[in-house]
Amino acid sequence: MFKTLNKGFLILFLSLFTFLIVEEDSWARKKKPNNYKTKYVGAVKCNGSCHDPYYLAWKNSPHGGTYNLLKPGVREEAKKRVKLDPQKDYTTSPQCLRCHTTGYRQKGGFKPANSKKPSKIDPEEPNKEQVGCEMCHSVAGGSEMRKVMKNTKGDFSKADSEKYGQRWDYANVCTRCHTHKNTPFQPSVHDKYKFNFEERKKKVHQIDKYWSEDNQDQKLENKDKRAKEVAQSEKTPLVIEHWKVKQKKKGPKLYFKRSSKPFNKVRYKERKKFKKEHGKKYKKSKEWKQFLAEREWFNYKKE
Ligand code: HEC
Ligand code: HEC
Ligand code: HEC
Repeated sequence: MFKTLNKGFLILFLSLFTFLIVEEDSWARKKKPNNYKTKYVGAVKCNGSCHDPYYLAWKNSPHGGTYNLLKPGVREEAKKRVKLDPQKDYTTSPQCLRCHTTGYRQKGGFKPANSKKPSKIDPEEPNKEQVGCEMCHSVAGGSEMRKVMKNTKGDFSKADSEKYGQRWDYANVCTRCHTHKNTPFQPSVHDKYKFNFEERKKKVHQIDKYWSEDNQDQKLENKDKRAKEVAQSEKTPLVIEHWKVKQKKKGPKLYFKRSSKPFNKVRYKERKKFKKEHGKKYKKSKEWKQFLAEREWFNYKKE
């Protein structure tokens, strides 16, 4: 009799235990987004459960191979035309990485081979070393937007998503690289560098080919609903980042122009104020974190 009682307890205990694990897991997934933690996470994170066709299509598109263009011997003719050295290895050059990789010199972004903790590169699985999802879809990395997508199971509005760094001014965002004043590949060099958004858009991720039985459930039910909305960033596109490469003792280094970095504009102005009120360690204060979480994200272009 004692033994059966024990067994009963064991079963009760085990079921309680599994309940707690499952419960905790769903809590973890409901983590609230928090803007002060925003960082780049890479394209691989979008693959595997939510956007597999997008990942596959992107992987096989030109943006899934932009890093490779920086290697010696690749596209020699095009390089010669703009007076670049076709035999040089540009895979660690700050002059190139902003436009050929993801999040370079920003939190969580790509780190080249000559940095302290270089990003791992897997040739089978393109990630931050290429121009990934976040270079077109977000202001400063997609990690917080992922929580919005998960929490709402995809049923979010454009306005909801903008609060966490998603942007919808696609035609504008292409000019982060295409026809940007820092690209060597200007329309004046060759006609093929002219940029027609409507034409080019069609080639960005051709997902139609990549639907299969395994990923049918990833069809975006709310996409058409969202397409009817007009986001603030569509009405007033965001300022495009300007940057310069400066020669430093340790070598060339890329700097963003402060006023053109959308999510930083307020921060620099306010920093002084926080230092004054909370001392040197102001970054640890609750008030600072709250300020970052609630700050205005976007630096809209003046109309
Ligand atoms: C401001 C952004 C920007 C910078 C900086 C930049 N690129 Fe690019 N690069 C682009 C864009 C955009 C294209 C695609 C142009 C197109 O197809 O219209 C491109 C295309 C290329 C191509 C292919 C050209 C062709 O016709 O096949 C090579 C090679 C390349 N870049 C190498 C480099 C190297 C090396 C550097 C650094 C010295 C560099 N890029 C710096 C934006 C940039
Ligand atoms: C070069 C820029 C670019 C890159 C890189 C890119 N996208 Fe897109 N994406 C777009 C554009 C532009 C659209 C809108 C297409 C349209 O309106 O027809 C879009 C639309 C989408 C949509 C539909 C959004 C909605 O709900 O309306 C999803 C989801 C998406 N992309 C996911 C991804 C994923 C995942 C990746 C990376 C694997 C990625 N994208 C990489 C430019 C990009
Ligand atoms: C972070 C930089 C960056 C951004 C942002 C970007 N591109 Fe590109 N894009 C490139 C580079 C680099 C290439 C060169 C790839 C190659 O030649 O293999 C390229 C190539 C392309 C190509 C292939 C050219 C061809 O005809 O073979 C298309 C299409 C394209 N981009 C469309 C877009 C569109 C549309 C957007 C905006 C929604 C966009 N790109 C945003 C960097 C960028």
